[in-house]
Amino acid sequence: MGCHAATSCLAACLFVLISGCRGQVNRLPFFTNHFFDTYLLISEDTPVGSSVTQLLARDMDNDPLVFGVSGEEASRFFAVEPDTGVVWLRQPLDRETKSEFTVEFSVSDHQGVITRKVNIQVGDVNDNAPTFHNQPYSVRIPENTPVGTPIFIVNATDPDLGAGGSVLYSFQPPSPFFAIDSARGIVTVVRELDYETTQAYQLTVNATDQDKTRPLSTLANLAIIITDVQDMDPVFINLPYSTNIYEHSPPGTTVRVITAIDQDKGRPRGIGYTIVSGNTNSIFALDYISGALTLNGLLDRENPLYSHGFILTVKGTELNDDRTPSNATVTTTFNILVIDINDNAPEFNSSEYSVAITELAQVGFALPLFIQVVDKDEVSSGNVWPVQTPALLGPSNPGKDTSYL
Ligand SMILES: *[C@@H]1O[C@H](CO)[C@@H](O)[C@H](O)[C@H]1NC(C)=O
Ligand SMILES: *[C@@H]1O[C@H](CO)[C@@H](O)[C@H](O)[C@H]1NC(C)=O
Ligand SMILES: *[C@@H]1O[C@H](CO)[C@@H](O)[C@H](O)[C@H]1NC(C)=O
Ligand SMILES: *[C@@H]1O[C@H](CO)[C@@H](O)[C@H](O)[C@H]1NC(C)=O
Repeated sequence: MGCHAATSCLAACLFVLISGCRGQVNRLPFFTNHFFDTYLLISEDTPVGSSVTQLLARDMDNDPLVFGVSGEEASRFFAVEPDTGVVWLRQPLDRETKSEFTVEFSVSDHQGVITRKVNIQVGDVNDNAPTFHNQPYSVRIPENTPVGTPIFIVNATDPDLGAGGSVLYSFQPPSPFFAIDSARGIVTVVRELDYETTQAYQLTVNATDQDKTRPLSTLANLAIIITDVQDMDPVFINLPYSTNIYEHSPPGTTVRVITAIDQDKGRPRGIGYTIVSGNTNSIFALDYISGALTLNGLLDRENPLYSHGFILTVKGTELNDDRTPSNATVTTTFNILVIDINDNAPEFNSSEYSVAITELAQVGFALPLFIQVVDKDEVSSGNVWPVQTPALLGPSNPGKDTSYL
């Protein structure tokens, strides 16, 4: 063939074309691999240095062929053995980084070069464990969170395809108080919580993919902090409240200090103290903050309003952070007995008593004289009065018209 001998193939071909001498044309090689029409699949775990395929070409003239790869990126990943067309992997593949390439291979018969592009698809293997997002995981929930309440969602994703990229969640070990939805990562309360028992839970979430042969898993911590709820009313302590107070105690005298406490242990609130009822004439004052009950006026037992003592109703109110009263309250009664002191002399009901008696009256004769002596003090502290007569005329004053007592 003339063309074989020609020093310049290109020039010869051009000449042949122009001359119309078809019989003398060099026929260029062509690729016979089917993957040029579809794609070439290479698994991402293919080891570097292994052969991934062999380029095949035909040349009708049976010219010796030389294979190659073109392009900067393609040359970094693939090397082609020029004589055999075997393609070697030069760099690790990662489907999750680059899932496909378009690579241009070439074949030359020394007179002409043919290039063709192939679509290389990187095949997935389960080479990624799930990754948790938005860590760290921590949530605060009130102790009265009802059973069944969703409180948190963990989220892990796995870039692998299919089962190897599908994530299931579990607690490891399982928790008696919390459950996790295996598919969606939703954490719910499954048992009543009590701040007074446990203030925090440290759980470990296992996210595992579902690859059948080699599942990969990742662990993450979930901190659940239980907060105290103001769910309990206050209580008065040192009950019952019952006190005696002497009448005429000086105003300001402390009768007693009452104390209520918040039963919520977590962050107990302060208490405000008030008198709800029974405080006749505001004779007592109750300090809002200290709970000290003091005498606020003159306590005269002989005042009928006071003589029976007092039954105060006192109230303790839990105070919010801003010192406003909350609706957690407790009331109790406070009995106060007023102790008499002997501050009243007995009194006759008249300054002068007179009665007319005859001279014939004998000793022991009952005079029609009616005298009442009243002592306002209580029996225990005053004299044994009143006396109500007829008074007896004593032997010391016989013969008088009038008897003076
Ligand atoms: C989980 O995180 C991924 C990545 O941040 C996000 O695309 C996805 O929407 C999240 N899923 C849920 C249920 O929040
Ligand atoms: C996570 O759970 C899977 C499935 O139960 C288990 O095979 C795997 O060992 C667990 N992962 C870890 C880190 O314990
Ligand atoms: C307290 O009262 C407010 C308003 O009246 C109400 O919204 C709230 O639920 C009450 N709290 C409790 C613990 O009873
Ligand atoms: C004093 O009390 C007596 C007994 O109640 C009564 O009979 C008498 O009339 C009273 N005298 C005067 C001056 O009130």
